[in-house]
Amino acid sequence: MKEWIAVGALLDMPENEIIPFSHLSEDYILIRRGDSVSAFVDLCSHQAIKLSEFGEIQQGVLVCHAHGAAFDCHDGRELCFPATEPLQSRPTRITAGQVEVQI
Ligand code: FES
Repeated sequence: MKEWIAVGALLDMPENEIIPFSHLSEDYILIRRGDSVSAFVDLCSHQAIKLSEFGEIQQGVLVCHAHGAAFDCHDGRELCFPATEPLQSRPTRITAGQVEVQI
């Protein structure tokens, strides 16, 4: 059964950076852009390499430096080869200034 977990205050999160967090031995990343936050499983969809280690936000795009794939920071959709699948996203919401992720 999925649950909403609190991962921190929106205003404490830096914008346009990869913010890693873990829950029950699973690793995820957050990306804040203004008042919205996106959450993804911490794995590139190309070869399952950790985006928290090989990823970087460049001009509003999440780039995986392992082989050069790029993803939309908002919805995780793949933007270029070699990725052919989107990132695994998780729903987010903001409640009283706290970011929550459904996992
Ligand atoms: S593992 Fe990310 S581009 Fe290959």
